Amino acid sequence: MAEKIEKVAVVGMGILGAQIAVQAACYGYQVCGFDQVEGSFAKASQGLLQALAAGGGKGPVMGLAAWKEGLKKVKLTSSLEQAVADADLVIEAVPENLELKRKVFAQIDALAPAPAILATNSSSIPISKIEGATQRPQQCLNLHFYFPIMGMNLIDVMGGSQTSEQTMQAGIAWTRSIGCIPLLVKKEIFGFCFNRIWRAVKREVLHMWADGFVDLEDVDRAWMVFTGMPYGPFGLMDQVGLDVIYNVELSYFGDSQDPRDRPPEALQAMVERGHLGFKTGKGFYDYPNPAYKDPGFLPPAGPAASD
Ligand SMILES: NC(=O)c1ccc[n+]([C@@H]2O[C@H](COP(=O)([O-])OP(=O)(O)OC[C@H]3O[C@@H](n4cnc5c(N)ncnc54)[C@H](O)[C@@H]3O)[C@@H](O)[C@H]2O)c1
Repeated sequence: MAEKIEKVAVVGMGILGAQIAVQAACYGYQVCGFDQVEGSFAKASQGLLQALAAGGGKGPVMGLAAWKEGLKKVKLTSSLEQAVADADLVIEAVPENLELKRKVFAQIDALAPAPAILATNSSSIPISKIEGATQRPQQCLNLHFYFPIMGMNLIDVMGGSQTSEQTMQAGIAWTRSIGCIPLLVKKEIFGFCFNRIWRAVKREVLHMWADGFVDLEDVDRAWMVFTGMPYGPFGLMDQVGLDVIYNVELSYFGDSQDPRDRPPEALQAMVERGHLGFKTGKGFYDYPNPAYKDPGFLPPAGPAASD
């Protein structure tokens, strides 16, 4: 296995791959990226740059100036062979499809140096389902980044059926070296660490709303007061996209086959109507001015608050 990680290859330079590449470059790694579609990196990184600027240019991991510097340092190539030729760590970030990921892992395995570690950024597929496509299952692992990386410096680190302790430790150390917090998943579990916590919240609040127990605005008010966040679970689901939320819930249901995991029909109906949240202007809230941003959404502090 690679003694030291210096060179990182990213395969798939869309929304996540672009961020991973820039993040690693910002923290001093030599990064080379490959995407089968020319221009993917430019498109994804431009959108992210705008989002970072709109958010005030600050994040726990990376500010706007560092992001721009990192952008310049990422090398791009139109050849997978070149991208991984001398990599110590290869991170795959192609679309969420098992067959595609297995195909890409087999290609990377054939082209990357023998000591290189191979990681997938999959949101849901455990590496144990991909590792068999390679000749080096002991050097394969899940490194699951959260979106957006510049605002959510968490990475789930999870091994497969044969991942060596050395590979796990290298994954944890590398995560820390790029300013992120490793969330070690000690045994394989669908949803990793924090995704599963967020998912438990989603499942509960979706059913409370769909079965008519509470108004979604009250759930969000409670969450905002409890956590100090500027939105609640329903506001956040609108930002992610209700089609994405629905599909993720379906995949949890597919994994467990527990009827309580089935996403509510009311959510499915919203998706079918095209009410997908922020991106379509309508979801649980209306955009661009969702009610949870109204000054009156949370009652103003009373006189006792200034004591
Ligand atoms: N978007 C998120 O919030 C998020 C968060 C965490 C993890 N992920 C995971 O990251 C992975 C990528 O997601 P994304 O949102 O960046 O998707 P995306 O569609 O934005 O990017 C995928 C990129 O892969 C490229 N690609 C497709 N096939 C390829 C191939 N054979 N070789 C090289 N490049 C190829 C595409 O051209 C595209 O640019 C998925 O596994 C997803 O589950 C996504």
